[in-house]
Amino acid sequence: MSWFYRHLLRPVLFTQDAEQIHNRTMRSLAWAGRRRLICDVLESFLGAPPLPTSVFGLRFPNPVGLAAGMDKNAESLPAWAALGFGFTELGAVTWHAQPGNDIPRVFRAIPEGAIVNRMGFNNLGAEAVAQTLADWRKSGSWPPHPVGMNLGKSKITPLAKAAEDYARSLRVLLPHLDFFVINVSSPNTPNLRELQDKAALDEILAAVLEVSSQASLGQPEAPTNESPAAGDASVPARPSGKPILVKVAPDLSLEAMDEILELADSRRIAGIVATNTTISRPQSHVPEVQQVYNQNGGLSGRPLKERSTEFVRHIYRQTQGKLPIIGVGGIFNAADAWEKITAGASLVQVYTGMVYEGPGIARSIVKGLRRLLKQSGMRELREAVGTKART
Ligand SMILES: Cc1cc2nc3c(=O)[nH]c(=O)nc-3n(C[C@H](O)[C@H](O)[C@H](O)COP(=O)(O)O)c2cc1C
Repeated sequence: MSWFYRHLLRPVLFTQDAEQIHNRTMRSLAWAGRRRLICDVLESFLGAPPLPTSVFGLRFPNPVGLAAGMDKNAESLPAWAALGFGFTELGAVTWHAQPGNDIPRVFRAIPEGAIVNRMGFNNLGAEAVAQTLADWRKSGSWPPHPVGMNLGKSKITPLAKAAEDYARSLRVLLPHLDFFVINVSSPNTPNLRELQDKAALDEILAAVLEVSSQASLGQPEAPTNESPAAGDASVPARPSGKPILVKVAPDLSLEAMDEILELADSRRIAGIVATNTTISRPQSHVPEVQQVYNQNGGLSGRPLKERSTEFVRHIYRQTQGKLPIIGVGGIFNAADAWEKITAGASLVQVYTGMVYEGPGIARSIVKGLRRLLKQSGMRELREAVGTKART
């Protein structure tokens, strides 16, 4: 599949506008997701072999997830499991529906395996997406893997009211999903990244924690198909409430990152997603690449790989491996994923890698990880986590 995609399909797709292709692909996957038979066929070609792991109290069939931004409104939800992903992060969703920035807003730097985007959280709003999720569940096609939601701040909400904005979205989405990611790291909503400041983030986390604690005090949570069976000792227990993670920007200083980590215990952060896209740009002497790098927005893909791995390693060391990390940034193959895992990531995600490598990427990474584990004489993925970060 990968050869076919790279040599035959991709050259045709890449002649067209990046966002238009994205929208067309999403419509096709949404259509496929509503048809069990098509999903079964997709899965037989592109599904991944098992490589189970348990992180923050959830059981994952494999550690390779779909990163936020690909399926913002949950329109293709059932298709991601059929494409071999071990979990899906939907969103970003904001409290208010919003159109995002003006088009064009996605640009490919093909020779570098990179994308620059300034989407600006285009989404249908938390209430509409909650309805879509309820409809998927009712249809019986909910995927057999953990599903999370990336939460952003609405553009019209002032920074001072950010905590309330995140809390409102969480309140309506909480019953539907397995985990949540507080996104304070997108470069495409003006000043959003100021919310990574310790005091501002503390306020947001306090607000979302209150929503999540109130919910777990009330009626029992709706069971998800990934909830561990009662008494299942292989899934580590987690505190009550659904896991809430924080997604960070690779442009933070490591000192600022450490300040965020100081909130982990008091605000019960379940993990860190490292990292979002970067506003920095590498040197390029290729005019076509330079033109893309001159665009405002966040850079993802190959040029982000090293910096995001450095963040994963730093967080792992600072927390002595106690805080789960989802590693994301420039993962194109199993070797890239292995690099993130051995630097300290318990799970990984891909976005740009799928654009360049095609829909077989999850299967191919999982197969490669199984091989790498075997070669290293390890039986379980968690044995590999952080092995190259320990000094
Ligand atoms: C077009 C596009 C849209 C994105 N939208 C979001 C988003 O809504 N929320 C978010 O947290 N990250 C978003 N991201 C960032 C990705 O989730 C990921 O963190 C980043 O692209 C690095 O991974 P990659 O190199 O595999 O793409 C987006 C990335 C791209 C390319």
